[in-house]
Amino acid sequence: RIGKSLVVAIDGPSGSGKSSVSREAARQLHAAYLDTGAMYRAVTWHCLAEGVDLGDGAAVEHAARTIELGISTKPDHESMTVGGKDVTDAIREPRVSEAVSAVATTLGARSELIRRQRQIIADSGHRIVAEGRDITTVVAPDAEVRILLTASEAARLRRRGDQLGGTQTEAQLQAQVLGRDTKDSTVVNFHQAADGVVTVDSSELDFEQTITAVLDVVRTVAH
Ligand code: DC
Repeated sequence: RIGKSLVVAIDGPSGSGKSSVSREAARQLHAAYLDTGAMYRAVTWHCLAEGVDLGDGAAVEHAARTIELGISTKPDHESMTVGGKDVTDAIREPRVSEAVSAVATTLGARSELIRRQRQIIADSGHRIVAEGRDITTVVAPDAEVRILLTASEAARLRRRGDQLGGTQTEAQLQAQVLGRDTKDSTVVNFHQAADGVVTVDSSELDFEQTITAVLDVVRTVAH
């Protein structure tokens, strides 16, 4: 299928395993990979670094429109820069995770990031796995393959806890994972599959099984 247009859009809540699954699916499909959440995080990092008031929608939108973002779309090379500065690790810090919903709920910032995401998809030659919260519905509703990757609350909390190395209490994890999803849900619906979107529930699946399930959908739908 190399050379043919294949956009795979994957949405889901945090802790669904979306990022690692999408990256590996991209590898196996010889496609590019776009982590749109990293772009929301990069804008947030910039606002924190520059003292931009995250409660000021116009200022946040201005930041989103003017910053220089460099994102790697190679599935084997994770990298994000803001104004040439490497922020690959910094955007994963808890202070960014705690603040990012302010950017995600600023509609002017969203429309600018959506515009940039569509450009990245075009630049990939429309051969890309793009993941986030609104890819199947807003960024690429015409993608060849659209998947909602879900998992039960318990499975999501367990995975996020493992990712953080068991350093968090149950209550802290709940506040972080479910609290952020609740805030983000006010502007994007990533809990129900839109028309034509295939749901993959990973609650009872391990990583390999989830990849297999996703690639099965790609094979079935993209032909
Ligand atoms: O997937 P993540 O945790 O890195 O996403 C970071 C934040 O960005 C999250 O709070 C939701 C938001 N986001 C969004 O609103 N739309 C997207 N397409 C991707 C992420």
